[in-house]
Amino acid sequence: MTTPTKLPVSMTVNGRAVTGYVEPRTLLAHFIREQAGLTGTHVGCDSSSCGCCVVLMDGAPVKSCTVFAPMAEGHSIQTVEGLAQGGQLHPIQQAFSDQHGLQCGYCTPGMMMTSLALLSRNPDPTEHEIREGLSGNLCRCTGYNNIVKAVQQAAGAMSAGESAAADD
Ligand code: FES
Ligand code: FES
Repeated sequence: MTTPTKLPVSMTVNGRAVTGYVEPRTLLAHFIREQAGLTGTHVGCDSSSCGCCVVLMDGAPVKSCTVFAPMAEGHSIQTVEGLAQGGQLHPIQQAFSDQHGLQCGYCTPGMMMTSLALLSRNPDPTEHEIREGLSGNLCRCTGYNNIVKAVQQAAGAMSAGESAAADD
């Protein structure tokens, strides 16, 4: 039996260059967890259905269990660890905390990254749009109502932050 050839892979993860040698079949989720050492990105299924593994690739949400690590070569990845800045929680993290938008927390990183992408393209979503936007993310604790409230709070906080920044 031959050993699979390893490929060099480089990408930016939360602004930091990360390089590793991986088998071509290595999933981005595993690269992030094992090569970048960022274990906030979870793997919750083997059927591309739970969304626990969502990260942003060049700003767009992807299920990192459906992307081979070499496909992310040269791209910019953002994970849940990249949300907080300067010791300050991101408004989405603050809102999930305030609204009890998590129970076991396993789905939470993916929920937050999908929420960030949703609010980037639609800063003032309706409840229906939030539920639709998060429809690819499953919460096995079924905390959906509080998750929706968290996204609504985050939308308000992020809009207010942008208005304040524009006034400066
Ligand atoms: Fe990626 Fe479930 S681990 S969708
Ligand atoms: Fe437990 Fe969502 S908080 S899976």
